[in-house]
Amino acid sequence: MKPSTSRPRPSGLVCAYRKLPRGAGREEQSSILVALFGKLGYMRTLEVSAADARSAVVCGLGAWLPPRIVTNDELATRLDTSDEWIRTRTGIQTRHIVSPGMPTSYLAAEAGARAMESAGVKDVDALVLATTTPDRPCPASAPRVAHRLGLTGRPAFDVSAVCTGFLYALSVAAGLIVSGAAEHILVIGAEAFSTIIDPHDRTSGVLFGDGAGAVVLRAGDHQEPGAIGWVELGSDGSLDDIITVRAGGSEQRSAGAPQSPADSYFSMRGQEVFPHAVRRMAEAATTALAHARWRPDEVDRLVGHQANLRILHALSERMHIPRERLVVHLDRVGNTAAASIPLALAHAQSTGELFPGARVLLAAFGGGATWGATAVTWPDIKAL
Ligand code: COA
Repeated sequence: MKPSTSRPRPSGLVCAYRKLPRGAGREEQSSILVALFGKLGYMRTLEVSAADARSAVVCGLGAWLPPRIVTNDELATRLDTSDEWIRTRTGIQTRHIVSPGMPTSYLAAEAGARAMESAGVKDVDALVLATTTPDRPCPASAPRVAHRLGLTGRPAFDVSAVCTGFLYALSVAAGLIVSGAAEHILVIGAEAFSTIIDPHDRTSGVLFGDGAGAVVLRAGDHQEPGAIGWVELGSDGSLDDIITVRAGGSEQRSAGAPQSPADSYFSMRGQEVFPHAVRRMAEAATTALAHARWRPDEVDRLVGHQANLRILHALSERMHIPRERLVVHLDRVGNTAAASIPLALAHAQSTGELFPGARVLLAAFGGGATWGATAVTWPDIKAL
């Protein structure tokens, strides 16, 4: 990480140890240290009990959508589908699609620049990019995005957890800040998902869209609005076949040629995904609520992964959170995978659904399978 002083920087663990409150009880100290050591084994954001504990705080929010909008009716001209089927089964009406020659890094840089402007910062100590659709299989796209943003030299890396990617990236970035390794981090979720969709697949073809959203995290206090608390994350690799791109990786390359051209495209067993998505998001969100010590009726906004309106409705029912408190953005953008949560946040901020002090619950499910949730009291920021 970029050192903020000329002195050599202590390790995250030493840094955090030095931040222990004087006179902190043994229980407080061990809570912090156990969380730090636990971080090595489990990618979980620290939950600390010390009153003045360092935390990662959301201080900027940005979003960018490619200008080209594709309606359901336009899709119906080339796929065996209809506006009526797509609306009633998914709630999606339009999606944004990249123009030729517009890779994920372009979208990511646009959203990242807006988030940095929203935060009022010209520099960050690291960039974390969540994406399913990197510009190339190798290298990661984050260094390219950092270069575009004038952040050459800063650590930059990709996180791959499909539609849960943004929450995984948020957790990793928050951990770096809490450990003392960074003061500011840019976290981006960006996808050019349309580039991996089989043009003949009417099921996936109507669901996904492209876009990017980003937040800037800064070091702060865990009691401040915007502080990232516990991020509950999980995975189940036995489900890696229900959302996948079969070809292009070492599994297929070591075995030989792809079995069919469709193997190079995204495939999803949608009916199987549905119940897993509802169950895992609800479980993770329940755990996140427990850590925040909020009751479901205290949640002002539920920002679930924007995959399907029926999934969001089922989630709100399981969580006993009224539908009116759901943030719905998928009608305009479809499923934008790792970009879905930050895009929904930026949308809700622009409509006034998010307001300073609002209790916001985030939940996502994606390929892997992966899932995650966290709770955040909304800060007084402007989305750009
Ligand atoms: N237009 C018209 N018909 C379509 C269609 C389309 N775009 N896509 C599928 N169909 C057809 C199917 O072929 C099937 O026809 P059949 O009954 O003759 O076999 C019929 O519609 C019903 O298909 P089914 O898969 O049962 O529909 P569904 O109600 O389960 O909806 C999804 C399909 C994909 C919308 C739904 O399962 C879903 O949203 N799953 C979750 C996927 C998701 O959100 N994943 C992201 C999580 S990270």
